[in-house]
Amino acid sequence: MPVITCIDDLKRIYKRRVPRMFYDYSESGSWTEKTFRENTSDFDDIYLRQRVAVDMTGRSTATQMIGESVAMPVALAPVGLTGMQHADGEIKAARAAEKFGVPFTLSTMSICSIEDVAKHTTKPFWFQVYTLKDEDFMRRLFERARAARCSAIVLTVDLQIMGQRHKDIKNGLSAPPKLTAKSVANMMTKAQWGIGMLGTKRKFFGNIVGHAAGVKDSSSLSSWTAEAFDPSLNWAQIAKFKEMWGGKFIIKGILDAEDAKMALKVGADAIIVSNHGGRQLDGALSSIRALPSILQAVGDQIEVHIDSGIRSGQDVLKAMAMGAKGTYIGRSFIYGLGAMGEAGVTKSLEVIQKELDTSMALCGRRRIEELDKDILLIPEGFEGRWQI
Ligand code: GLV
Repeated sequence: MPVITCIDDLKRIYKRRVPRMFYDYSESGSWTEKTFRENTSDFDDIYLRQRVAVDMTGRSTATQMIGESVAMPVALAPVGLTGMQHADGEIKAARAAEKFGVPFTLSTMSICSIEDVAKHTTKPFWFQVYTLKDEDFMRRLFERARAARCSAIVLTVDLQIMGQRHKDIKNGLSAPPKLTAKSVANMMTKAQWGIGMLGTKRKFFGNIVGHAAGVKDSSSLSSWTAEAFDPSLNWAQIAKFKEMWGGKFIIKGILDAEDAKMALKVGADAIIVSNHGGRQLDGALSSIRALPSILQAVGDQIEVHIDSGIRSGQDVLKAMAMGAKGTYIGRSFIYGLGAMGEAGVTKSLEVIQKELDTSMALCGRRRIEELDKDILLIPEGFEGRWQI
């Protein structure tokens, strides 16, 4: 077993073990992938201030997100098709998150269903919701999340229609994978993955198949999205969904201060500053660059979380020091899952926690609540000066 010291180590193993189609699905941004790339490279432009001779005893990464205690401010983001990266992937990731003490967010487009994940976990998880045209399906989706004891809904507002990811089209991405000469030849080289998949019945979109009526091809994410998602989503509907749910409500996919103010108006408990991992509007700002203006607009009135581009504990530290109240990792845990299943997700969380803890201490801070911009060196004009 290779020694794993960073998220990149897990990514290398992941790339070897998982069929190309699903690696590409995870590792793509839309169109030119500019935003996808800048989500990570913009974190690198921020520096940390080293402080010395500060007492480093009694450190902790523990804090709260939307009133829930977390071992560190890092939730697992909703990731579609997680159960294709590894057999029973959502259950495995949820169990790792539960044991570690961080929130797990189940995607609407998961392979394991809400009920299935609830059955195999003991603590409440969060459920991500896409807006579908079928109102009855939506109502039942909230009911199902309630019955599964989900403690928060994460409503995604940046994917009414889907950004194009070239490789998914070329690969004919679907769940389960269609058996073409190319996909079979590739899958033959992924023995461990194949054995896992042969041993599970969970190969379809578990929240959809058997629950949504009148959908022609529910194996293809892109055609299903185009058919079933509601392109007319608006703020009045978002408010209605919040009421329909009645519990903790997080709005995911905010990249603009004006939209952040709208989310505040509908009474969300938190927003996630996100560009969907660079998978939607190519050419949009990276999340970390969008964060300061959003914090300035609403940061003292609503919890502001962030995703897109977080690959290390240092990234978490930078986002939290800037003023975020929580972060999410998507690819960073998928690499672990694809590499080593549940143990790999645990490993990715351990790696990030150690990086966060040590780097925080070397900045002279011992607790998450002590973080502020004083530990950062942010280049002048980082948030941009744009002509309106
Ligand atoms: C779905 O949420 C995707 O980004 O593929």
